[in-house]
Amino acid sequence: MKIKPTVYNQSMEPETADMGQELQAPPPECIICTQDLWKSYDMGGEQQVDALSGVDLAIQRNEYVAIMGPSGSGKSTLMNLIGCLDSPTRGVYWLNGHLVSALADDELARIRNQEIGFVFQTFNLLARASALHNVELPLIYAGVAPAERLERARQTLISVGMGERMSHKPNELSGGQRQRVAIARALVNRPSILLADEPTGNLDSKTGNEIMALLDNLHAQGNTIVVVTHEHDVAEYAHRVVHIRDGKVAWDEKTARAKS
Ligand SMILES: Nc1ncnc2c1ncn2[C@@H]1O[C@H](COP(=O)(O)OP(=O)(O)OP(=O)(O)O)[C@@H](O)[C@H]1O
Ligand SMILES: [Mg+2]
Repeated sequence: MKIKPTVYNQSMEPETADMGQELQAPPPECIICTQDLWKSYDMGGEQQVDALSGVDLAIQRNEYVAIMGPSGSGKSTLMNLIGCLDSPTRGVYWLNGHLVSALADDELARIRNQEIGFVFQTFNLLARASALHNVELPLIYAGVAPAERLERARQTLISVGMGERMSHKPNELSGGQRQRVAIARALVNRPSILLADEPTGNLDSKTGNEIMALLDNLHAQGNTIVVVTHEHDVAEYAHRVVHIRDGKVAWDEKTARAKS
């Protein structure tokens, strides 16, 4: 495949550049594939922060990957790029065979909606809306008809054990229950990739284990899971751990679970 891609240069203005070589699409089983991904912030004057400085990462379909690293090492930045919530300063990202930088905005929004569910550490639920309405929202954006979206939101909430609390607003729910609603919202479009940034960060260990069991179940159903965590016992649920240091992949290892 020969493509002249849009790459992002250091001054953060997208430009069409001739890479001087053919970009090779990754093999089809590689659902997330980044090549030399950079994210830099211009802080004024000579100052620049490189949140990511050349990340090469290949994640296969149905892998279960944990991303670990010290605070400030670039984990959330990487997740936001993988989730297409932000664009890189430089580098190439292939999402399920699509060169992300070459997609038009509406195409990107459609693919992101279809392919990716995102769970945030801070839940990001709408405070004034019920659990049911929070989960229904992505389906409204996707243009699903009212009766169907209500039914799908209900079913998804039931599947995460929230069938009894659908009419509650976030402040009427416990932390674990809110996280379940956030997971239901991420899953309601039936994405094949679930990205979770510290999904248990605000939870006690028992509730955290319940959330991780939920992710395990999703992995068993064939989904690809990428989870950021500070906790080794959370990372042990995954089959592979990618360690980030100073905006780069420092090392990559299989967990005991993958070996067993
Ligand atoms: N909008 C921004 N402007 C400038 N610098 C930023 C911005 N966002 C992030 N950074 C910097 O980029 C680096 C990586 O941030 P990031 O949020 O990805 O870290 P993290 O690994 O997720 O950390 P934590 O474990 O604390 O969540 C940090 O040094 C941070 O200060
Ligand atoms: Mg973070």
